[in-house]
Amino acid sequence: MCGIIGVTGASEPLRIILEGLEMLEYRGYDSAGFALVRIDGSGLWRERAAVRAQSLPELHKVATPPPGAALGAGIGHTRWATHGAPTEPNAHPHLDCGDRVAVVHNGIIENHRELASELEERGHSRSSETDTEVIAHLVEEQLADGASLDEAVRFLLGRLRGDFALALVEAKDPDTIIGTRRTSPLIAGRSDGVGLLASDISAVLGTTRELYAIEDDQVVVVRPGSITAYDRDGTEVALRPLEVSWEVQAARADGFDDFMSKEIHEQPRALADTLLGRFRSDGAIDFEELSLGPHELRRIDRVVLLGCGTSYHAGLVGRSALEAWAKLPASAEIASEFRYREPVIDDRTLVIATSQSGETVDTFHALREAKRRGAMTLVVTNVVDSLMAREADGVLYTRAGPEVGVASTKCHVAQIALLQLFALDLASLRGTLADADVSRLSGEIAHLPEAVSAAVGRFAEYELVAERLAGVNDVYFLGRGTGLPIALEGALKLKELAYVRAEAYPAGEMKHGPISLIVPGTVAVVVATRGPLYEKIHANVAEVRARGASVLAVCDEEDSTTPDLVDDVLRIPSVPEVLTPVVGVVPLQALAYAAARARGNDVDRPRNLAKVVTVE
Ligand code: M6R
Repeated sequence: MCGIIGVTGASEPLRIILEGLEMLEYRGYDSAGFALVRIDGSGLWRERAAVRAQSLPELHKVATPPPGAALGAGIGHTRWATHGAPTEPNAHPHLDCGDRVAVVHNGIIENHRELASELEERGHSRSSETDTEVIAHLVEEQLADGASLDEAVRFLLGRLRGDFALALVEAKDPDTIIGTRRTSPLIAGRSDGVGLLASDISAVLGTTRELYAIEDDQVVVVRPGSITAYDRDGTEVALRPLEVSWEVQAARADGFDDFMSKEIHEQPRALADTLLGRFRSDGAIDFEELSLGPHELRRIDRVVLLGCGTSYHAGLVGRSALEAWAKLPASAEIASEFRYREPVIDDRTLVIATSQSGETVDTFHALREAKRRGAMTLVVTNVVDSLMAREADGVLYTRAGPEVGVASTKCHVAQIALLQLFALDLASLRGTLADADVSRLSGEIAHLPEAVSAAVGRFAEYELVAERLAGVNDVYFLGRGTGLPIALEGALKLKELAYVRAEAYPAGEMKHGPISLIVPGTVAVVVATRGPLYEKIHANVAEVRARGASVLAVCDEEDSTTPDLVDDVLRIPSVPEVLTPVVGVVPLQALAYAAARARGNDVDRPRNLAKVVTVE
């Protein structure tokens, strides 16, 4: 969480920082701030604002440079609070005792308490409750001992525990920004005498497309038009260029009320781009970028799918496809739990991490743990060269374009389609499905963008049904088999956006306890897919209705039975049952979107959340 930007050599550094922060706001919006070095040597100019979800507009109000101040290098930050409440004193940048050094940070310094008490004993006084501030004071001591800023930052690498990306400036040097990272993301860029640092490419795409990766524990010295990277020993190392395929426009709301509605409407395109070039003319599936070859894939005897939140739900769909088509034992696991178990995996286990951002720390560490235990690893992610993409043995990219809304939508449908296609490819490789079945299913997957387009076309219709949720504070989402991951995703969306208690349950489990919570007026959203459990889900609908629940059902447009059994329907285009998750989530996204807007909630900046979760 948290976004970092740094710029040097620009004629309008403040503008670049503020524009960059707009693009990084999705990473956290509890507070925002910047610090710039005054060229006349009179020190740092720092401003901060902490107004939940309004920090950037507030920061703009105070971003008027002091009269006559020419500004050099600067750093900016948008925060998702971990240590210390979202207040102005806790907002970044943080300064040392003498206001000589400013630092912005993304991540967590795990040993900050120990470092803070050391620093206190040595006479430093703190002005925030954050873990970050210790960095400014540690650097202050190094500078006082004669180190340069980059040497001081190299020293930090031996003292800090945890995950972090840092950018620092020093009052006496208006040209230089120093950056470093461990696990948390940071990239560098340059163009026409300008040097940049940022948490992600969208923040600097307006200024340059010449971007470079920074590896763990490297220290980069960014000066106007130049970037030099050093390893922990101070030896200069080569920079690795990054390929940039996204356009700056793709990360803007473009006439939609918000990013979420833009991204919901982009789903057909996101899916089409994800599937583009994946089918050969002979009907075979083509994963050109996959570095795991047929020999390695044939060795697999088990698959574990890791993910968090929405990406975990995609993993559940992937699990069913792997079992049904590739006949492989498969399990889907919540990454934050998996890492701390004693998972039984070996070199014949394929571990697939699914992550929109490729950065979620829970998933990243679970993936790393799987690798440490000898598993073969694969990542399904939307972000090229992201942490997980670099860590895994193989990577498959969803090509959904930047997803900015905190609620994952277009990336989710792309993840599901890609996981299903991969399962199909494995089935073909293992000979567990006849060629004719592989071609038929591939053809059906290839048509998903049209079905999703038809579902998105019903958005206004779905929003009308959402009116039934007005004033409702508890909703059950029920599904079975193929419908369960859809129900889970619908409940997550309603919780995170509308702040409504929403519980997703396997419909068949209700009678084992939760049905006691159903009382007259309870709302249940039931996903009725027309597969082997169709009649059983109807029985479950009857059970909750008999106890007074009103039922909204997701069902396909050729389903003539379900509408008679429920109070209202969210119709989806008919697709083969096994592919329903891609289409079935669309009305539930709309339901959550409309319920959130009806309650006056900010759908792009939901309470307490951030798009990228880089803390455990
Ligand atoms: O970037 P990731 O896919 O790893 O993110 C995982 C979750 O944090 C994410 O899916 C979260 O649940 C979304 N906000 C859901 O809409």
